[in-house]
Amino acid sequence: MTTHETKPSTLAGKRIVVIGGSSGMGLATAQAAAEAGAKVIIASRSAEKLDEARKQIPGRVAVLPLDVTDAAAVQEAFGQLGPIDHLVVSGSATSAGEFRSQPLRDARATFESKFWGAYSAVRSAQFNAGGSVVLFSGVFSRRPAPGYVAMAAVNGAIESLGRALAVELAPLRVNVVSPGMTDTPAYAGMPQAQREGMFAAVAAHLPARRIGRPADLAAAVLHLLGNGYVTGTVLDVDGGALLV
Ligand SMILES: NC(=O)c1ccc[n+]([C@@H]2O[C@H](COP(=O)([O-])OP(=O)(O)OC[C@H]3O[C@@H](n4cnc5c(N)ncnc54)[C@H](OP(=O)(O)O)[C@@H]3O)[C@@H](O)[C@H]2O)c1
Repeated sequence: MTTHETKPSTLAGKRIVVIGGSSGMGLATAQAAAEAGAKVIIASRSAEKLDEARKQIPGRVAVLPLDVTDAAAVQEAFGQLGPIDHLVVSGSATSAGEFRSQPLRDARATFESKFWGAYSAVRSAQFNAGGSVVLFSGVFSRRPAPGYVAMAAVNGAIESLGRALAVELAPLRVNVVSPGMTDTPAYAGMPQAQREGMFAAVAAHLPARRIGRPADLAAAVLHLLGNGYVTGTVLDVDGGALLV
């Protein structure tokens, strides 16, 4: 009798690029992948942030200064990297604003960074057999809030992109994680008291009774990278936000 095992594939020795790996959930993902034995390459715009992040990741980590809105630079960078095993795109700069008053250029810039950045990164990367992609959307795609129209729309676009790529690029697996509110440097611009008040209010409302930690998302990403039977899915890591 033949038995078919479905052991998750190990990340040991795999080349994994994390765009946005200098901060927040991308940094936590890079740390978790490095702990699992992967050869990690972190990319983002700021060389200083990358250097700081590198010190927080165990083992040998390569850094790649890169702005995903520069499609030519993205293509050149991936051409130089050669084949990789996994690509994670958590890096983006988005903006909020009331629909009628948010400048159109800011709404467009949100798409330029989060949607077209992810699009051109996947398009430029070359993958070894057994590889995969994880993109980041966000809870606003299906649970929008006033003042976040462009963010809701870009997250919906990312989720559609993930499904479409999973079909067209098969057997390359493509998945999306959708974070709910997670305590990352994305909120560093807010005064501390205001930020903590917002986190506490959201936590009280969520079924999980807390907001997310970067490590929660890293664990979800590692699951998607390792499970060879999961593709075209959106994994909600949001404390139950879609239910309330
Ligand atoms: N935090 C939340 O509550 C939350 C909720 C829902 C969804 N999300 C989504 O989850 C993802 C990760 O969020 P986070 O909170 O971990 O973010 P974060 O801590 O603010 O980190 C963002 C990362 O993206 C990089 N980045 C920004 N623009 C880039 C560009 N044009 N090219 C390359 N890298 C760029 C930044 O580095 P540089 O500045 O060096 O470029 C940084 O490493 C994002 O897609 C975000 O929209 C977050």
